[in-house]
Amino acid sequence: MDSPLNTAVPVLITCPLRMAAILAEEVAALGFPIIRQHPAGVETEATAVGAMQLNLHLRTGTRVLMRLTIGRANSPDDMYRLVNGVEWESLLPDNGYFSVISSVDTPSIDNTMYANMKCKDAIADRIRSRCGKRPDSGSDTSKAVVFLYWHGSFCSVYVDSSGEPLSKRGWRTMPFAAPMRENLAAAVIRSMRWNSASGLFINPMCGSGTLAIEAALMARNIPSVWARSNFGFMHLRGFSRNQWKSLRTNAEHTFCDVNPGQITATDISSRAIESARHNAEMAGVKDIIRFAKCDFAETPVPLGDGVVALNPEYGERLGIVEELEAEYRRIGDFFKQKCIGKFGYIFTGNLDLAKCVGLRPKRRIEFFNADIDCRLLEYEMYAGSKKRPSE
Ligand SMILES: C[S@@+](CC[C@H](N)C(=O)[O-])C[C@H]1O[C@@H](n2cnc3c(N)ncnc32)[C@H](O)[C@@H]1O
Repeated sequence: MDSPLNTAVPVLITCPLRMAAILAEEVAALGFPIIRQHPAGVETEATAVGAMQLNLHLRTGTRVLMRLTIGRANSPDDMYRLVNGVEWESLLPDNGYFSVISSVDTPSIDNTMYANMKCKDAIADRIRSRCGKRPDSGSDTSKAVVFLYWHGSFCSVYVDSSGEPLSKRGWRTMPFAAPMRENLAAAVIRSMRWNSASGLFINPMCGSGTLAIEAALMARNIPSVWARSNFGFMHLRGFSRNQWKSLRTNAEHTFCDVNPGQITATDISSRAIESARHNAEMAGVKDIIRFAKCDFAETPVPLGDGVVALNPEYGERLGIVEELEAEYRRIGDFFKQKCIGKFGYIFTGNLDLAKCVGLRPKRRIEFFNADIDCRLLEYEMYAGSKKRPSE
């Protein structure tokens, strides 16, 4: 059976809000056309092999969705007919398993679960009518995943080639308190003035090590999902394990050597350091990160170009705001006293606390951490910056 994904189909790559421009750069750098940029995604086109490549190499995307059909639906029956018209028998094994996830906002239906169920029936009925057997379905998203987007009378149906979101890299098996989502960490690093080939990356307050590990993966040119062994596309008909292996082999040929002193991660908590070390080992980059348990202000900052990046607590999930004011003041002092010649970065969701740093940011880059309005603040620490007017 020839898969409809052997020819290029429209692909929507989703990402958190405010990250689409960075994602678009990544997609274009991989050689895929940018058809449109949305607030939380990028449209391109790709075959099944292209989708595998996107899943392997993107660092900032969340899901690679391959569109199978698009149309109008003003009732559950309209949606059923639209979904039932897709050649599912060429995509999903009749003895396999699939789940449906959705974004539904239409007056035609007031219960998302009902929309998902109707969509599942349309798929399973189609396969049974062609193959005499219906695949299992349920809420487990670790196998084949179908994504239904139904807003107003506009309905699109995608196969989710990622399955689980790409932020799940497969290496953070020991999270510490309030870890950053991995693709957000990658986008934050991409926004820094950091030369991944040679620049120092110093990450005090590393927590579970997300920033340092993502940076180490970039420096070594290892795909962020290298440690992950399961993707949605692996559960589709026609999935070629050989093609996947050859994409991985090609990627492996471009891994780079990294100077062992390039990346440093420290934290005041020994449990955080234990978790960061463990996660770095899972990611295959433990050997290139120097870990130390210490107060952030004691972090060794060697001479040379590079960045010092902190994600301090900001009172949303961790820390008491009043106590944190003094910590932010100390970060300002640390930047001024120990980080001359570097770019300093603070990622925070509390802009009042950020003012306590007492330095004027050169750039303020907007992000969302889930639904928290956050900023990546950039400070250029050149000699004499102590004399700059404070905010
Ligand atoms: C918001 S968490 C960082 C999360 C991290 N970005 C991640 O993805 O896991 C803040 C971290 O700062 C650490 N921390 C708090 N006060 C510190 C201090 N004075 N010196 C060093 N680390 C500190 C905490 O132990 C915690 O791990």
